[in-house]
Amino acid sequence: MDFVPLRITTVKAEKSLTFDLYIFFKDQYLCYSSKGNILSEEKLEKLIKQDVADFFIPFDQVDNVTIFLDKALKEATYAEGLGTEERLDVVEGVAATSIEHMSENPNEANFNMTKNAATGLREVIRRNPHALKRLFGKKGHESDLIIKHSLNVCALATRLAEHLKLPEDEIEDLATAALIHDIGITKLSIEDVPLFEKDKDDFSPDERLRYGQHTNSSAKILSEKPFISKRVENLILNHEEDLRGTGPQKLTKLTPSEECLSLCNAFDKRLISTNQKPSEIYKSFQVDYIGRYNLELIQRFELVLKEEGLLE
Ligand SMILES: [Fe+2]
Ligand SMILES: [Fe+2]
Repeated sequence: MDFVPLRITTVKAEKSLTFDLYIFFKDQYLCYSSKGNILSEEKLEKLIKQDVADFFIPFDQVDNVTIFLDKALKEATYAEGLGTEERLDVVEGVAATSIEHMSENPNEANFNMTKNAATGLREVIRRNPHALKRLFGKKGHESDLIIKHSLNVCALATRLAEHLKLPEDEIEDLATAALIHDIGITKLSIEDVPLFEKDKDDFSPDERLRYGQHTNSSAKILSEKPFISKRVENLILNHEEDLRGTGPQKLTKLTPSEECLSLCNAFDKRLISTNQKPSEIYKSFQVDYIGRYNLELIQRFELVLKEEGLLE
């Protein structure tokens, strides 16, 4: 039987399940709770305490998962009486699930799930003061650094694009592209994957070349899909480019949304490569990245960081 992952943070206790829940334990899938049953708070807590990140759902029930995630996303975004943390947990869970599904199976349903997750994340951040700061402060699972980075970049780049008053359809594409921009990292050779946690400015010329290949891999996974626009594909292909031509494609011109994505990607990559706070990272970033991005964009970026409380 084939399975698809589902983030544990999207599942609420005491609600009737619309699919079977499995866990992966000692090299095998075990049924943890069946369709129609109610998962108790106690059973769910037990897994959270054990640091389990994913449930697994039989592949033939994947449509039920999609319906379930859409509903969970709407609730987390619009239902009254929820705390910011609770909303972020669900949105983050749906986004993580959609990124995982897109890397495995980049079909239209999974792409739409990614789009919805990106919209949900934007909405939660727009409606809840300090949500972006909380997102940045959240500890992800060690193995999920790419997912944590993708969410950070999505949240930050769309805030920046909103500040620049870019057209709404461009911001929507930017949000979606940001969530899946690094799915090509998993296609790097096993020795090169740790480069993800190294600052770009510390790369040797050879490491820069090898790491740069992931942009082509990400774009390739998504190319020739009629439901993915050329703009989304280019955002992903060009996310490591800058105005000095140091990126893998050696471009020196970027569209405004591509520049937003590239800048926020470079900033968050530096953030995850060190243990420093965003305010400390920004100091070095500001110096090192002048000339790689428009000065006005860097200044706008500083305003966004300040407004979101990330420079405190
Ligand atoms: Fe990247
Ligand atoms: Fe990235």
